[in-house]
Amino acid sequence: TSTTVERDLKAAIRTIPDYPKPGILFRDITTLLSDAWAFRRTVDEMVQPWAGMKIDKVAGIEARGFILGGAVAHQVSAGFVPIRKKGKLPHKRVSIAYSLEYGLDEMEIHEDAVVAGERVILVDDLIATGGTAVGAVTLMRQLGAEVLAACFVIDLPDLGGADKLRQLDVPVRTVLTFD
Ligand code: PRP
Ligand code: ADE
Repeated sequence: TSTTVERDLKAAIRTIPDYPKPGILFRDITTLLSDAWAFRRTVDEMVQPWAGMKIDKVAGIEARGFILGGAVAHQVSAGFVPIRKKGKLPHKRVSIAYSLEYGLDEMEIHEDAVVAGERVILVDDLIATGGTAVGAVTLMRQLGAEVLAACFVIDLPDLGGADKLRQLDVPVRTVLTFD
């Protein structure tokens, strides 16, 4: 029961088998981003539940979450703060190790990126196991932020990430589902 828009946006995603590791079906959003209609419509769909709400900051997760997070921040008139892979941020930072569908990594945020009590929306392109997003929520909460929601273009529900976020009381918004 998908709508025409969902079908058209889904058709703009390219799937690459066995990247970056054997057995992974990689959902490549570069083809969606390069399509003017698809990019705008995707950002509009991501922010739709928060239209008109006061949001202080959008936190985007490196690297694909930067592209979408910047557009979302502009759309909701919020500031943008980057959650980066280890070793990229110059000022005082807090770090967390995490696992994702195809590996292990460490992410960081500047300790002054958000002020305690600020209302933050987390943005990334895709949620799979949720390791990345749960790590990002943990960092935001360590800084005292109120995580209003997390939004993604793509959900891979079989990997359970969105459910993990909901168990942490984070509302989840996803535009497209790949079973
Ligand atoms: C991808 C994707 C998400 C994460 C999702 O990032 O952009 O951040 O994996 O996986 P998970 O739900 O299993 O944690 P990746 O680390 O490949 O970074 P990139 O955006 O720099 O390519
Ligand atoms: N990040 C984690 N799993 C992914 C997948 N299957 N496709 C694209 N990005 C991902």
